[in-house]
Amino acid sequence: MNFHGSDFYDDNSNFEKYMQRRQWQENANDTLEKPVIWQLLGEVLDRHVLDLGSGDAGFGVELLEKGCAAYVGIEGSRNMVKAATNQLMDYNHGSVLHMRMEDYTYPSDAYDVVISRLALHYLEDIETVFHSIHQTLKPNGRFVFSVEHPVITSTLQPSGTRTNWVVDNYFIEGYREQQWLGGTVHKYHRTIEDYFNAMQEAGFIVERLRESKPVREHFASDETYERRRRIPLFLFLAGRKQD
Ligand SMILES: C[S@@+](CC[C@H](N)C(=O)[O-])C[C@H]1O[C@@H](n2cnc3c(N)ncnc32)[C@H](O)[C@@H]1O
Repeated sequence: MNFHGSDFYDDNSNFEKYMQRRQWQENANDTLEKPVIWQLLGEVLDRHVLDLGSGDAGFGVELLEKGCAAYVGIEGSRNMVKAATNQLMDYNHGSVLHMRMEDYTYPSDAYDVVISRLALHYLEDIETVFHSIHQTLKPNGRFVFSVEHPVITSTLQPSGTRTNWVVDNYFIEGYREQQWLGGTVHKYHRTIEDYFNAMQEAGFIVERLRESKPVREHFASDETYERRRRIPLFLFLAGRKQD
């Protein structure tokens, strides 16, 4: 069994629903995930950035606007690559490659920063990719990523407004299937410890571990803010390649 995480986004109906959801005013990506990513990234000026599972490269545009030297997105979905190519059209130093991150030939000592936002939980094998990321970073380079929180991936239930969450099968790592936006998503669950160990085993000094604790100012309503205080949605790790 080897599902490709991008298949879901190449179904046109799933893709449209996903892109619409990202426009919601209080969508979880903008209110919970992106603020932490920016905090973990720090200064991006003059940095060479690689983005794994880059989606429509909206974040690439933000990085380029903030002065990163070059942005390369790796993206497995045809629909996403098309959207990304449009978005990056006006930027000389921004590009996206249509391929799986497992298949990319990672150049040695090439990037200052590797990011991956909400894409690594689609991979069955993160260990090999983490080693490739380590070798593609320059000395002192940083790897920052977010994934769906393991308490969520352990027990994938049909999506909807979450008010409480029963965690089950947490220590049974591996394949999971979820009905989402009218389609079927294929993901791989691993524990917090698995992610942490994979970073260390690839050679990273793990510098930060974060969860998506909500901050009131990022929400338009008290109601959503209070709801988001109940269940953790995202996990983040940041590591550095030793000098
Ligand atoms: C939830 S979306 C996030 C997109 C973007 N990183 C963002 O935060 O806006 C996950 C993305 O990862 C891509 N993806 C999943 N598995 C992948 C793989 N093995 N190689 C490359 N891209 C992959 C999907 O096609 C999708 O665009």
